[in-house]
Amino acid sequence: MPTKGDSLPTVWNQPPHTKVKHDILTRYLAAWFGIFGSSRRHSAVNVLDGFAGPGCYEDGEPGSPVLALNTLLNHQSFGNFDTTRFTFVFNEWDPQRFASLREVLAEAKVSKSPWPANVHVLESNQNFQDLARQLLDSVGPNKQLAPTFAFIDPFGYRDVPMSTIRDLVSHRSCELFIYFDFNSVNRFATAGNVDEHFSGLFGCDEFKNAPPEGLARAQFIHDLYEKQLRKECDFAHVCSFRMINSSGHTGSYLFFCTRDDQAYDKMKQAMWALAPGGAYAFDDRLAGQEVLFGNDANTGPLQDELAQHFAGRTIPVEEVIRYVVTQTPFHSGQVRTKTLKPMQKAGRITSPNQKRKNTFPDGTLIIFPVLD
Ligand SMILES: C[S@@+](CC[C@H](N)C(=O)[O-])C[C@H]1O[C@@H](n2cnc3c(N)ncnc32)[C@H](O)[C@@H]1O
Repeated sequence: MPTKGDSLPTVWNQPPHTKVKHDILTRYLAAWFGIFGSSRRHSAVNVLDGFAGPGCYEDGEPGSPVLALNTLLNHQSFGNFDTTRFTFVFNEWDPQRFASLREVLAEAKVSKSPWPANVHVLESNQNFQDLARQLLDSVGPNKQLAPTFAFIDPFGYRDVPMSTIRDLVSHRSCELFIYFDFNSVNRFATAGNVDEHFSGLFGCDEFKNAPPEGLARAQFIHDLYEKQLRKECDFAHVCSFRMINSSGHTGSYLFFCTRDDQAYDKMKQAMWALAPGGAYAFDDRLAGQEVLFGNDANTGPLQDELAQHFAGRTIPVEEVIRYVVTQTPFHSGQVRTKTLKPMQKAGRITSPNQKRKNTFPDGTLIIFPVLD
């Protein structure tokens, strides 16, 4: 029998960090749709919203399903996407919230009439775990699921066992954007009474070794979940974004997981835009402040790292960018102008084939001198 499993009304008030979560989601999806919409390799993609909610918030703000749909339908290049089939699966278990979601989606469809023939919306009213199983069964043996962005956004920690997540994302082109209920794990891990759920959540019992308190405990819990996502689900890249609640404590993390360098880069760009400076965190107490939407980066530490890492070598700029994207918290948009240009001005790098000083188009070789 479905139960909400929470004490909130059918439609609830949107806290500031939800808006930030939605901004990361839509910024990333805009880039993702842009890549797959014009891809010759893939003719179909899926967006799975496994915990879709009621479709809107108390003051009428749109929920994740509407935001995901609108990000596609309002995409500046949508007119060029007609050879790609986009399937959205919106799943909500609670019957009242599901009814609300259906109404919201029906309104969205009417407002976008005529509805594009290549955009399909499936509404589902079941437990996420059953949906995941059903989706996997529908793929068939030796077949690959089309590239799928899975947004897994539960309220707590009970319905997202690592084994389900692992199976769901076992197809190579699946990506995961998942909410991690840090607050509950931090409070109850090692208390003993909900161990069974945490064993499922982490896919192991190592959480029982978490230090009793403080930063060491917090780091241990975060790192263990990240380690399990990499190991169990075989993700090459995992990054996380911390949500700090109104009392100044870490409430949750959003983890993004992918096997694709470009996707990882795009998500880091989305996260940086919401947390300039590379903090990968949002504090509810700073909600509404101007600083939110800047995108300044202090690349000093990155300049030092590149000088160190590539010391004594001559490297094409593309390789430097690949290193930055895959091995550092920075993204590709911060390399040429914000990092290499000041390095050249400071005499920390030179180039043997550069056409114009301080510019680094593809093919530019960069000499990193040996360090003393
Ligand atoms: C955090 S809310 C989702 C918010 C939504 N993703 C958004 O951003 O607008 C979590 C939702 O999951 C639903 N839910 C709880 N347990 C579920 C389960 N096992 N399977 C599917 N949905 C579930 C809840 O009723 C709730 O609406």
